[in-house]
Amino acid sequence: MKGYPAWFVRALLGALLLLFVSGCLMAPTTLLMRFEMELAWRLPGAGRVVTAAMHATGGFVVLMMLGALWSVHMRAGWRKRRQRGSGATLGIMLVLLAASAVAIYYAGDDALGSGAALVHLAMGAALLPTFGWHWVHARRASRKAAIPDSVRAPAGTVVVRAEAN
Ligand code: HEM
Ligand code: HEM
Repeated sequence: MKGYPAWFVRALLGALLLLFVSGCLMAPTTLLMRFEMELAWRLPGAGRVVTAAMHATGGFVVLMMLGALWSVHMRAGWRKRRQRGSGATLGIMLVLLAASAVAIYYAGDDALGSGAALVHLAMGAALLPTFGWHWVHARRASRKAAIPDSVRAPAGTVVVRAEAN
């Protein structure tokens, strides 16, 4: 990722993974408390507090990183008209996750709070596949961009690649 230190992508991946795993761990309690859906397993009370604290911390870190992505990565990609669809979807999803998190904190247990929790959970579950879609496109695009190098490579190399595919 141009314009960022090498650790940035790894840190972003780690923070997103922490968010996703902790969110999934909290989901059974949310389904029970807000929608009376009993699953076979859920986090015990103390475990949920620790998990929620880790989740909120991961959320703050990801939003800080979204700010860093906005100032360079997103604007550069947007200007070059590359990966606009998946990139903008990811950005909008993260903003909606943050907005619904505020409602989870302050709207209480009535319809608004439960609606926000549902939106948050659905959006959270969809975040990883959307991120994967964006990532796979990025890899494909950088492979395509590398083609001029392989054209310059010895003729034999190109023939072997074409046969392997
Ligand atoms: C930028 C992304 C995200 C932010 C800022 C964020 C933030 C938050 C915050 C602050 C809470 C309240 C924690 C508490 O109960 O004390 C929360 C709850 C929750 N989050 Fe997230 N989260 C994000 C992404 C996700 C993802 C990816 C999932 C996925 C599976 C998820 C699932 C949940 C669940 C199940 C709850 C509990 C809802 C409830 O209290 O009923 N979140 N989130
Ligand atoms: C308007 C929004 C966005 C646009 C136009 C965009 C555009 C791009 C483009 C063109 C690439 C491939 C070239 C490169 O690595 O720079 C890419 C890769 C990537 N993007 Fe985005 N992006 C957007 C939003 C986001 C967001 C919100 C995230 C994170 C949550 C993200 C994470 C990544 C990652 C991890 C890669 C792969 C980098 C690598 O291969 O090392 N992008 N994006």
